[in-house]
Amino acid sequence: MFGYEFLTRDKNGILEIEGCNSLDLLKEYGSPLYVMNESDIINRCTQIRENHIEKHGGFAVYASKAFSNKAMYRLIKSQGLGIDVVSGGEMYTAKSVDFPMENVVFHGNNKSPQEIEMAIEYGVGRVIIDNFYDVENVIRISNEKKKKTGVMVRVAPGVEGDTHDFIKTGHEDSKFGFSLNDGSLEKAVEMLLKAEYVNFRGIHAHVGSQLLENEVFKKEVSVLAKLYRKLTDMFNIEINEINLGGGFGIFYTESDTRLDVSYFTDLMNSEVDREFKENGLKRPMIIIEPGRWVVGEAGVTLYTVGAIKNIEGVRKYISVDGGMTDNPRPPLYGAEYLAVAIENADREEENVTVAGKCCESGDILINKISLPERKSGDHIGILSTGAYNYSMSSNYNRLPKPAVVMVKEGTSRLIVKRETYEDIIRNDI
Ligand SMILES: Cc1ncc(COP(=O)(O)O)c(C=O)c1O
Repeated sequence: MFGYEFLTRDKNGILEIEGCNSLDLLKEYGSPLYVMNESDIINRCTQIRENHIEKHGGFAVYASKAFSNKAMYRLIKSQGLGIDVVSGGEMYTAKSVDFPMENVVFHGNNKSPQEIEMAIEYGVGRVIIDNFYDVENVIRISNEKKKKTGVMVRVAPGVEGDTHDFIKTGHEDSKFGFSLNDGSLEKAVEMLLKAEYVNFRGIHAHVGSQLLENEVFKKEVSVLAKLYRKLTDMFNIEINEINLGGGFGIFYTESDTRLDVSYFTDLMNSEVDREFKENGLKRPMIIIEPGRWVVGEAGVTLYTVGAIKNIEGVRKYISVDGGMTDNPRPPLYGAEYLAVAIENADREEENVTVAGKCCESGDILINKISLPERKSGDHIGILSTGAYNYSMSSNYNRLPKPAVVMVKEGTSRLIVKRETYEDIIRNDI
């Protein structure tokens, strides 16, 4: 189905996800429901290991902002990858499952001193220095604790990914990283090199997300290789690591291409080989940080259709029991998704708008899609919802967050419980 090999139909025409009957999942765990295909995630981690770690001696950290919870950190740990975290909350969750903290990369454009202290105490392997606030806090806190902290410095490489403005990060006018044009980066590196308890490991850049062309990584490597030459000469150092970020795109709709990780990693590795050689430098170890690519296509959100409103000659709304609370991406960036009918898929198709239940006109999950006629009580599954859905979910309108289940070879297990109304008022005084 749309190239998702794990989506099939049983003999009654019911949608199966990795061999699990969707209606049975809804009966067991309730609606709406996030379903994550564990086999797909494992397969992708294997691809990353084979194509980048084993083939090229690189390292990979899963950008856990895409889908973050204890089960996911356990899974990534079992797959031998590291993680990228961007907050005390993500760090704490990782620590709670004994994630090897030396394989954690800590990002963020506004880390609090408390978060930096936590990272240093936990022994996080690489703190990504985003600005002078980080420089000062990391130097001060690592001195106080007399604990050596590994750091990489984030730059805005002035390279633009062809993606939505809100998920572009590498361009000059970005809130992330040091500019390459005003001497601030060199100043930061100098301060870090002088600090007794800091280990400068290299430079980081992330050019954007949902990138479907690898060309942008070529430009990124070219900019960074020149920068490595400059820093090497300026400070008489050897830099051993480079972090090229994530951003590998996935299939959401038929206008997207489904890409193997090697499409990105082969080019990154060959460009680093070539550019560093040309600049007379030793080849650094390449770290990558894919998030969406690891989990995005593995997710299907199951919903129950409730109210149906047909505005003759205008449009037909089918409303589901979730919405922008479990998937804010359509209102936030105009993200587009495909959906499928779970049952009664042989009914005649019609164009509909899939609306959420929140009290916002903008709470539309899919603006226009052709689906077999849906009646109240029927179900749909929205595809490729594994990344930035559960992790971006909210309790707007006091909607409890759905449960999350992992499915694997015909079996399912609950990994995040459905919230209750009691959970909703838990912190109210
Ligand atoms: C620094 C950094 N690394 C990695 C990622 C992961 O991006 P993606 O999920 O598109 O791979 C992001 C996303 O925002 C990021 O900011």
